[in-house]
Amino acid sequence: MEKTLMKAEQGGHYCFKKTDNLCDDCCCQQSSRLGMSRLRCAFRGIDVKACIFMFAIVPTFILGLYLHGQKISYFLRPLWEKPPKPFHEIPHYYNENVTMENLCKLHGWGIRDYPRRVYDAVLFSNEVDLLTLRWKELYPYITQFVLLESNSTFTGLPKPFVFASYRDQFKFVEPRLTYGTVGGRFKKGENPFVEEAYQRVALDQLLKIAGISDDDLLIMSDVDEIPSRHTINLLRWCDDIPQVLHLQLKNYLYSFEFLVDNKSWRASVHRYQTGKTRYAHYRQTDNLLADAGWHCSFCFRSISEFIFKMKAYSHNDRVKFSHYLNPKRIQRLICNGADLFDMLPEEYTFREIIGKMGPVPHSYSAIHLPSCLLENADKYKFLLPGNCMRESC
Ligand SMILES: *[C@@H]1O[C@H](CO)[C@@H](O)[C@H](O)[C@H]1NC(C)=O
Ligand SMILES: *[C@@H]1O[C@H](CO)[C@@H](O)[C@H](O)[C@H]1NC(C)=O
Ligand SMILES: *[C@@H]1O[C@H](CO)[C@@H](O)[C@H](O)[C@H]1NC(C)=O
Repeated sequence: MEKTLMKAEQGGHYCFKKTDNLCDDCCCQQSSRLGMSRLRCAFRGIDVKACIFMFAIVPTFILGLYLHGQKISYFLRPLWEKPPKPFHEIPHYYNENVTMENLCKLHGWGIRDYPRRVYDAVLFSNEVDLLTLRWKELYPYITQFVLLESNSTFTGLPKPFVFASYRDQFKFVEPRLTYGTVGGRFKKGENPFVEEAYQRVALDQLLKIAGISDDDLLIMSDVDEIPSRHTINLLRWCDDIPQVLHLQLKNYLYSFEFLVDNKSWRASVHRYQTGKTRYAHYRQTDNLLADAGWHCSFCFRSISEFIFKMKAYSHNDRVKFSHYLNPKRIQRLICNGADLFDMLPEEYTFREIIGKMGPVPHSYSAIHLPSCLLENADKYKFLLPGNCMRESC
């Protein structure tokens, strides 16, 4: 105690010692040499702190904001954004040994004399494997598969007509297929959601060409949002189902090994109304049918498909650094179930954000998956638990 006081009394020496390895030029060292008074030196002491602040803390803070700004704003989201109105979740009943009449009754619906026709319409980018699983899963109950493809990604990058080159692999749907292409607009610097909306309008036209009519069922979903077969069978047989119904899907990431949550809701089924029904991928009603299928995001076979998707995707601004596209990094994150864009979970409460931080836990359940996946487990191994290594090209 006394020693410190002594040193403080001596002013110059104290400052000298404390500062000389931190901030040589701007501090007391010089001032004592120039014979400045103790008072001046004390002021200089404040300058030292200001120096440290200006040259160390401020840049660190700015760098931190730059690197983690998105994370900080996502973390604080519960403060600036109210959660959306909750859905009205409709309980979903199914067992293969229960008759359709009883299943409809359990949902409070009647049964029809004959099933509705069903149209499955998707915008296709490059998801060849998931498209196969989707179409095999839904095949028994679909009247027409409608697929539209552009030679532009949503972010305005040119892409080949991928489906056209894989069409031979889809012979099994050929008699029920309406395939259309649309030329990209290639507007530089435009919001990707504009190109997406443009392509969805083209899909409405293609549905008319495919012959959709009133009260046919129309599935609106991305390729990777796959309704389960029995869900579509239920909806085509039951009377009085809601005009528009969202489907709650299990959310998987990279493969069926990483179950993120059970809350995917964007996919929807519509009883088509001419002149009224428009293809959309946002919230259109409060009705949500529980446990109606799978949403497998970034479920690709090869690393190059991951890279393409990261660049092509509507949120390509999330690729903040070029090293995010490094194949080794991508492979490592896939095996860990970690986020490719180094983002925080998009949730509305602190509890959910914190609960979901860090990698997605591994899941070892492979029951209740699309039947085509299990029947062809060799071909689709990368989608099953314990097989995170991807083809490198
Ligand atoms: C379920 O249905 C199958 C035929 O569809 C029948 O063989 C089987 O006995 C049924 N099981 C039960 C528990 O009713
Ligand atoms: C995209 O397709 C349209 C029509 O099919 C064609 O006119 C255009 O040249 C294509 N653009 C590119 C970049 O491939
Ligand atoms: C999702 O639902 C299944 C039951 O269908 C349950 O076992 C699982 O724990 C749920 N997962 C999450 C992440 O909520």
